[in-house]
Amino acid sequence: MMIELCPSAEIAEGEIKRVDVEGLPAVAIARHEGALYVFPDRCPHADESLAEGWLEDGRVICGVHFAEFDLDTGEVHNPPVGCPNLSFFKCEDRDGTVFALLTGDNANV
Ligand code: FES
Repeated sequence: MMIELCPSAEIAEGEIKRVDVEGLPAVAIARHEGALYVFPDRCPHADESLAEGWLEDGRVICGVHFAEFDLDTGEVHNPPVGCPNLSFFKCEDRDGTVFALLTGDNANV
C-alpha cells in the first residue's frame, strides 16, 4: 500500500529528511538532481540513522562508519565489514505529496 509521507517541498535538493511513519519504522527521503529516493532510516551496517548522514556524488553517506550507498542501485561502496547494500522503497510525488510503497516490516531485503 502506498503510504503518504510528507509534502515533497520539504525535501530540498541535496538533503535527506527523516519521516516517522505511524506503526512502521522511520524512513528517510533524499532528493538528488530533482528525483526523490525513499529508504529505511536505518543503515544496513549497524542500524544508525541515514538521515543523519549526507548526499555526495549520487550516494548516501552514513556518518557513522562512512559506508556509501549508490542512489540508483543501492550498492555499497567503501563498506565496513559485513555491510550489505541498501534497499529503496518505490515512491512517487503525487501533486506535491510524497508517497512510498512500504512493506510491513520495513526491512532491508
Ligand atoms: S552504521 Fe552506517 S556505516 Fe556503520
